[in-house]
Amino acid sequence: MAKSTTQFVCAECGYASPKWLGRCPDCGKFNTLAEEAIAPAQPTKFKGAFRASSRPLPLSEVKYESYERVSSGISELDVVLGGGIVRGSLVLVGGDPGVGKSTLLTQVAAHLAKSRKVLYLSAEESCSQVKLRCERLGLNSDKLLLLNETNIDDAESAFLEAEYVIIDSIQAVYTDALSSSAGSVGQVRECASKLMRIAKSKGITFFIVGHVTKEGTLAGPKVLEHIMDAVLYFEGERTESFKILRAVKNRFGSVQEVGVFEMTGGGIFGLTDYSALFLSDARGVAAGAVVTPSETGNRCMMVELQTLMCKTAFGLPRRMALGIDFNRLAVLVAVLEKRCGIALGTQDIYLNAMGGIKLNEPSADLAVCAALASAEKSIPVDKYTAVFGEVGLTGEVRGVNFADKRVNECLKMGFKRVVLPVKNMKACEKFKDKIELVPVTYVSQMIKTLFKN
Ligand SMILES: Nc1ncnc2c1ncn2[C@@H]1O[C@H](COP(=O)(O)OP(=O)(O)OP(=O)(O)O)[C@@H](O)[C@H]1O
Ligand SMILES: [Mg+2]
Repeated sequence: MAKSTTQFVCAECGYASPKWLGRCPDCGKFNTLAEEAIAPAQPTKFKGAFRASSRPLPLSEVKYESYERVSSGISELDVVLGGGIVRGSLVLVGGDPGVGKSTLLTQVAAHLAKSRKVLYLSAEESCSQVKLRCERLGLNSDKLLLLNETNIDDAESAFLEAEYVIIDSIQAVYTDALSSSAGSVGQVRECASKLMRIAKSKGITFFIVGHVTKEGTLAGPKVLEHIMDAVLYFEGERTESFKILRAVKNRFGSVQEVGVFEMTGGGIFGLTDYSALFLSDARGVAAGAVVTPSETGNRCMMVELQTLMCKTAFGLPRRMALGIDFNRLAVLVAVLEKRCGIALGTQDIYLNAMGGIKLNEPSADLAVCAALASAEKSIPVDKYTAVFGEVGLTGEVRGVNFADKRVNECLKMGFKRVVLPVKNMKACEKFKDKIELVPVTYVSQMIKTLFKN
C-alpha cells in the first residue's frame, strides 16, 4: 500500500492521527483535527559543519537589510503599511464579503503594473469579471497579468515570473499536497506556508485576500496570521460608503495606523479630510446626540454618538449598542442610575456611533453618559460642545491619553467648548485662550454643566 502523504493534526495539542477523528483522543477537544502534509524527512547534517546562517554572530557584525518600499498608489494604504509595500512581504487583507477587498487590490495591482510585473490570481472571479471591474474603475492596466486558477501548484511558475502577486482569495485556492477541499483549515494553512516560502526565497511580494467568519475573525487558523508579515482588516458597514483599513499586525510598521476610504462607483479612494464624516447635520437640534474626539489608530476623528430612548413596553428594558461595546453601555447605564440618580430602568436604550465607525477606547465613556442624560432629559447638547473622558464605576472621570491632540482636533473642527477630565487639564492649558475648557471630576458634574440642573 502506498504510504500516506498526509496526516490529521490536532490544532490544540498537536496530536497526529493517520485518519480524521471527531474528537482528539489526546486533549479531548472536538473538531480540532485538520489535514496536513507530512514534511519529508530532513537529510542528516554533517556534524560540526557550520552553515553560514547557523553560526551565531555578534550584533555588531550583523548587516542591515534595507527594506525597499514601493508606493501602492493609494496614500492611505501606504500609511497603514508603514510607508509603502515592502519587497518580499506577505500582506493579508481580511474583510466582510463585499467590503471592497478585490476593488482595493485591483487598484493597487493596476498602479504597480505600470512599472513592474504584477500577477492577479483570481480564484473567485473569472478574468473577464476582473477586466470588467478594471474598466469600471477606469484603470489603465494593460500590462497587468491575470490568471484564473485555483491550484497554486499549477500557478507557481507564473508566480516566479512576477514581482507582485495578488491572491484573491486564500480560501478559494488549494494545493495538491492535501486531499481536503479548498477553504478547509489545513488547505488555508498549507497554501499560506507555500506562498511564504516562495515570497521569502524569491523576494516576491504577495497580497492575499482572506475572508472573515461570522464572528469577525479571519476564516482559517490563527497560524495564518502568524505566517503573514502584515495583517490588515477592512471594516465598514456594507451600507456605508466609508471604510476603515486597520493594521492588526505589521512587521514593518506601526499597528496604530488606520486608513479611511470612501467607496464610490469609480473605486476606492483614500480620504484625507475625514473628520466631518462622522458628524450629522442635526447636531444640537435633537436630544441625545453628543460629539467626542476619538483616537482611532494614530488619528483623531470627531465622532457623533446618538441615543434614542423609548418607554419599555414589555417589562424588560431593551439595550442596543452599535459601534460601542454592549457591556460598556450596560456599565455606563448603571453608573448613571446609581451615581447620578438618573432612572433608566423603564427605558429602552438604543446607542449608535455615526457612520458605522467602531469606538473601542474608553475615552468615549463620558460622551455616552452625556448622550444618555441628554436623551433622558430631552435637552439637546450644544452643537459646538465636545465631550471626552473615561468613566469609573464610582462615577469619577478619569484622564485619557492624547488629550491635547483631541482638544486640538475639536479646535480644528470649529468646536467652542470641550468637557474633559480634570487630570487632562494640564496637558491642554495651551488651548485655554482659543477654546473653552470645562474640567470635570465626576459624571454628575458634567451633567450639571451641560444641562444646568
Ligand atoms: N457597478 C458598480 N457601481 C458601484 N459600486 C459597485 C459596482 N459594482 C460593485 N460595486 C461596489 O463594490 C463592492 C464589492 O467590491 P469587491 O468585489 O471589491 O468586494 P470584496 O470584498 O472583494 O467582496 P468578496 O468578498 O465578495 O470578494 C460592492 O459592495 C459595491 O459597493
Ligand atoms: Mg472579492
